[in-house]
Amino acid sequence: DWTMAAFRAQAIEEIRAKVGKAKVICGLSGGVDSSVAAILLHEAVGDQLTCIFVDHGLLRMGEAEEVVGMFRDHYNIPLVHVQAQDMFLDALEGEMDPEVKRKTIGRLFIETFEAEAAKIGGAEFLAQGTLYPDVIESVSFTGGPSVTIKSHHNVGGLPERMNMKLVEPLRELFKDEVRELGRELGLPDRFVGRHPFPGPGLAIRCPGGVTREKLDILRQADAIYLDEIRKAGLYDAIWQAFTVLLPVQTVGVMGDGRTYEFVCALRAVTSVDGMTADFYPYDMEFLGNAATRIINEVRGINRVVYDITSKPPGTIEWE
Ligand code: XMP
Repeated sequence: DWTMAAFRAQAIEEIRAKVGKAKVICGLSGGVDSSVAAILLHEAVGDQLTCIFVDHGLLRMGEAEEVVGMFRDHYNIPLVHVQAQDMFLDALEGEMDPEVKRKTIGRLFIETFEAEAAKIGGAEFLAQGTLYPDVIESVSFTGGPSVTIKSHHNVGGLPERMNMKLVEPLRELFKDEVRELGRELGLPDRFVGRHPFPGPGLAIRCPGGVTREKLDILRQADAIYLDEIRKAGLYDAIWQAFTVLLPVQTVGVMGDGRTYEFVCALRAVTSVDGMTADFYPYDMEFLGNAATRIINEVRGINRVVYDITSKPPGTIEWE
């Protein structure tokens, strides 16, 4: 594609001009955006780049293996896999406020990047796959007074003081354009087509307090839900789908026993850029099957609901 080929060439020139001979680290999240940013950066500055994949304990099932595997197998980019589960989960303990959760995670990401930058002899730049909608939504809400809706960790959630300069080569792009650029850069289709996944990960899908136990329940439910979506051939028709573990327990009956367990909400939306979205109109049979499987297979969940809120007035994530 001519436009993306031109964008690629220009972005590479700009990165080189900005970075010079300095070292760069790039935080990989497992999503399309940071992967595309990393590959673009690598083309621009080669072995001045080190990628950092932080396992904050808030990833989906099998995610770390998948991302690290893809980068190690397909690209010759140095990749550091940081095991930081305890640091993040301990810091989040007991925290209920969505913005504090986001900012805590953003701060720990930066601390982790700074520590890794020091280990490779100092990196002057931190690269991120920030997109245009991330910039807008962290800054203000269109049409109204300037109000922060959410501090996206790769924009507004970063601490003010940080000893690295940011490189954000995708800052002017929308999601569909990043996917096009990913294809242009030779990323495998199944990776380019991945649903978005937020930097703060499963922490913002556990409204209220995050615990290891809840994350474990959420991870299992999420894997089953995504499996059902793939089996039904719906993955590519949906922009983003995930489960949310509600901080509510309800009474149920299983066999001849009473249960008192958590409620799981299913979310699925269609969207073009994430800035507006419609809930996905599943048929009832699909929903029934997914709910039955989750309740039968996941200990800790005894009720499933479907979120039929569009954006606006809802947001895609619950926090
Ligand atoms: P919301 O919930 O704001 O989400 O309607 C819009 C899109 O952005 C993703 N999202 C994030 N992505 N860091 C990210 O990289 C974040 O902090 C973040 N918060 C939300 C969300 O998953 C959806 O695709």
